[in-house]
Amino acid sequence: MKYIKLGPWETSNFGLGVMPLSIENRPDKDTSIAVIHRAIDAGINHIDAAFAYYLSGGTAQNGEEQYSEKLVAEALRTYTGSADINNVTVASKAGHYRYVGLNDEKLWGQEGNPRYIYETGLKSRDALEMDSIDLYYYHRPDLNTKYELSIEALAKLIDDNVIKFAGISNASTTQIDIAKSILGDKLIAVQNQFSPAKTATIDTLNYCNDNGLTFIPWSPLGGFRHPELFDKDAPFEEIASKYNISKQQVILAWEMQKNTMPIPGFRRFETLDDSLKALSIDLSSDDISFLDKNSGL
Ligand SMILES: NC(=O)c1ccc[n+]([C@@H]2O[C@H](COP(=O)([O-])OP(=O)(O)OC[C@H]3O[C@@H](n4cnc5c(N)ncnc54)[C@H](OP(=O)(O)O)[C@@H]3O)[C@@H](O)[C@H]2O)c1
Repeated sequence: MKYIKLGPWETSNFGLGVMPLSIENRPDKDTSIAVIHRAIDAGINHIDAAFAYYLSGGTAQNGEEQYSEKLVAEALRTYTGSADINNVTVASKAGHYRYVGLNDEKLWGQEGNPRYIYETGLKSRDALEMDSIDLYYYHRPDLNTKYELSIEALAKLIDDNVIKFAGISNASTTQIDIAKSILGDKLIAVQNQFSPAKTATIDTLNYCNDNGLTFIPWSPLGGFRHPELFDKDAPFEEIASKYNISKQQVILAWEMQKNTMPIPGFRRFETLDDSLKALSIDLSSDDISFLDKNSGL
């Protein structure tokens, strides 16, 4: 097992993202809970959920609202394995929601209104069955709301002990500076998309490393809908075949060696078990240079 610093915690070097266990095409609930339990058994002690996983609004059927947060709460409540459940930290997010459109299509919306962020925080805390959420992110900037105002809602959630620490997601370096100026040391993490397919956020990754913030790559394997559709995976395949390991292990090891904490998702034991092996892989500096160069970094 490898660890990384996340605020006051030493956390497994990758966390578990539960979006694929919560939104469209998710497995049945028992399977989802079994995947979460298996990850905890293996030593994964950070779980990433969001208010937006899954539906909200009048068109959502009962049980669909805050599905991921309720799923995580149930998984933690029913865990009977040997890992210390008190060491598992949970993150969730506000400011983004998923709803049903006129033609039954599923759509994403953004809402950064501070009152909405604050009230979503209360709902997340209750769904997660926590006294205070370990880490709570502003999920995605709402261009109709001044960024400062949404971040001030996170500060109030901290002041009122609804959440312990704050993060921001889909954020630029300018937005990191704004959040830091309001939240100070309570800002501990930045969650941005980063993978071999998406490297444009490398500036924020480096900025986090320079400023003591944990960078959390989302969709670190390219996303659960089409993880096979990289057009940039050839160098990762090459290193994988050199060591006879999977491409996904190489990708996660490469990301972790950049001092990041990826949060891959899994719907199956097989993919979870395979990816866990990345936690005991150290790529050589030559391998890392080769992968960086061929990823345009
Ligand atoms: N902040 C944001 O805006 C934002 C946006 C998107 C996602 N996220 C977070 O990031 C998390 C991860 O993203 P994601 O779930 O979209 O994508 P991902 O982690 O990049 O990819 C997940 C997919 O990779 C497959 N996989 C995992 N390990 C594998 C292996 N060893 N071999 C082959 N396939 C493997 C899984 O397959 P199976 O399903 O078959 O197991 C799953 O479908 C989400 O759960 C969510 O928490 C955040």
